Amino acid sequence: MGRSAMPPGGSPFDLGDPAAYRRWREEKLERFPGSVDDLLVEVDDPSRLADAERAALLDRIRRANLVVYRCRRQVVNRDMLRSFGRALGLSRLDDHLCAEEDGISQLTVSDGAGQTGEYIPYTDRPLSWHCDGYYNESERMIRAMLLHCARPAAEGGENALMDHEMLYIALRDAGSEYIEALMHPEALAIPANVQHGEVIRPERVGPVFSVDPGTGALHMRFTARGRNIRWRDDPVTREAVDRIGRLLDAADAPVFRLRLQPGDGILCNNVLHNRTGFRDHPEPERKRLVFRARYLDRVAET
Ligand SMILES: [Fe+2]
Repeated sequence: MGRSAMPPGGSPFDLGDPAAYRRWREEKLERFPGSVDDLLVEVDDPSRLADAERAALLDRIRRANLVVYRCRRQVVNRDMLRSFGRALGLSRLDDHLCAEEDGISQLTVSDGAGQTGEYIPYTDRPLSWHCDGYYNESERMIRAMLLHCARPAAEGGENALMDHEMLYIALRDAGSEYIEALMHPEALAIPANVQHGEVIRPERVGPVFSVDPGTGALHMRFTARGRNIRWRDDPVTREAVDRIGRLLDAADAPVFRLRLQPGDGILCNNVLHNRTGFRDHPEPERKRLVFRARYLDRVAET
């Protein structure tokens, strides 16, 4: 085992153990990557990782919960991405409404005729800050996520990413009452998805921050969208949500911004992310194409 998220002597995410938090916080801030370049790892073939490549990927994920990989071999298919995930302990793919049969979604602008056109990931509009699967039931929590770029947009389509552990630190330093409010089991409700009178997904109520009992890792469930969500009606919760918004927008926030090129990808323990809007090439075969895999597993050894 490499370094685990939980040092000996208690959980850093236990509000009753400030000493464990301080130790973890110090190490986290010391080792946190300073730029996108520090996060970048080149790999030859993602389906046949060399030991050194795997070690370099895991090092970035341990430090920042995310890595940006660049494949020297640019033509990468879904089978290769599945092997890549498996080599990093990711085997349980989430069954998603719009995923293809193998559980990996192809994000591309849909014509609006099919069912996928109603979901923003399948349009060219901007996507606001969120962690994946915030509308999933807790048994299907998304612990890791992969985005792999096959073709970028003609213009735009930039991603921003922020390690949710860094957001946790900023909030806890501002006041542990914010963490307490966000760990409340009714902190955030996503109303049922009802289409044409049919309940496609029931309401989901749960905390923003939770600690995974299996691994001791911190999980975040969040969306910055303003419509169709309900925050717990409590002044500290409201203040905490305002603070999250300000922290994500702050000029000095530890946010990584990048525009994926063909063969580039992001692998993360479901950190906060967003995407700018984009303009596609007019030719259909040159439209932006990104593969996305969502896993119930967390990246191994991180
Ligand atoms: Fe997402």
